[in-house]
Amino acid sequence: MTTGSIAPDPPEAQHIPVLLEEVLAGLAIGPGMRIIDGTLGGGGHTAAMLAASAPDGRVLGLDADPAAVQRVTRRQAELVANGRLVIAGVNFVEIRATAIAYGFTAVDAILLDLGLSSFQLETPERGFSFSQDGPLDMRFDPTQGISAADIVNEWAEQDLADLLYQYGEEHRSRRIARYLVNSRPIATTGELAEAVSRAVGGRRGKRIHPATKTFQALRIAVNRELEHLQETLPDCLALLRPGGRLAVISFHSLEDRIVKQWMQQEARTYVPDPTHLYGGHERTATLELVTRKPVTASEAEAAVNPRSRSAKLRIAARAHA
Ligand SMILES: C[S@@+](CC[C@H](N)C(=O)[O-])C[C@H]1O[C@@H](n2cnc3c(N)ncnc32)[C@H](O)[C@@H]1O
Repeated sequence: MTTGSIAPDPPEAQHIPVLLEEVLAGLAIGPGMRIIDGTLGGGGHTAAMLAASAPDGRVLGLDADPAAVQRVTRRQAELVANGRLVIAGVNFVEIRATAIAYGFTAVDAILLDLGLSSFQLETPERGFSFSQDGPLDMRFDPTQGISAADIVNEWAEQDLADLLYQYGEEHRSRRIARYLVNSRPIATTGELAEAVSRAVGGRRGKRIHPATKTFQALRIAVNRELEHLQETLPDCLALLRPGGRLAVISFHSLEDRIVKQWMQQEARTYVPDPTHLYGGHERTATLELVTRKPVTASEAEAAVNPRSRSAKLRIAARAHA
């Protein structure tokens, strides 16, 4: 666990867990369960899952961000001390090896609440925010990999444009990429937000900041979010006991599509053969869908927790062999 130069929490920051009741009910959390929270964040879902699995349920909580690990370890010192909460500072792409190392196999439930926490967004030093200026970083784990500044300042214009288009679904990607290349060096989130705004002709009363999609694209690339999600889903399945449940909360269509397609594919009992009109083969489903459509936040929840507006929760259970 890294403890060195971790930025303190912004004084007003708090992270309200999204779709909390729906997660507890959907994962059917009850006493004595063994649970993995792959995205500990502020520890809100974990705290609720520990309460719902009392007196002896246990949670293994993972987070790539050393600040999240440190925060939850401090806040939940008692549960950590009595062994009900085990915390590991790793990327969830390592969920399988980590869970095996801590004896969390054949678990009852796994949660992945994707993306970033309010603490990360509201700590300017982490470089996720376009409303507060900070170094252009965006890494969940600031000790690993390349930062957003490396991409913005070093990638070829065409690659940058492709990135904004694919991961930001930004239709003005070429224009923005050209403008960014001509504005180099770009060192801070404020400079990036300003450059994107200028590239697309300013904000002009728009509700959404014009740099939103650019920031999303860079964050996804910096943290390899889509690759890690795709790699991790089969490992989650392997760690569940038959009947155990996996819940994934996603915040944009690219990650939701990955979850949806993977769950549907694993739940299939027949695979059509595209080369034959009536061809195909039977298969044993490895998952049963608990939610056929994604669960979304109520208006009441969205009013108090704007982050929940774009949340989509999908749940599936490991099939009984
Ligand atoms: C939306 S927050 C989770 C909030 C949490 N459910 C709560 O109630 O406080 C997402 C967290 O997951 C972490 N995270 C995102 N992708 C990750 C990954 N691939 N591996 C490990 N942690 C990840 C982020 O660092 C962040 O702290």
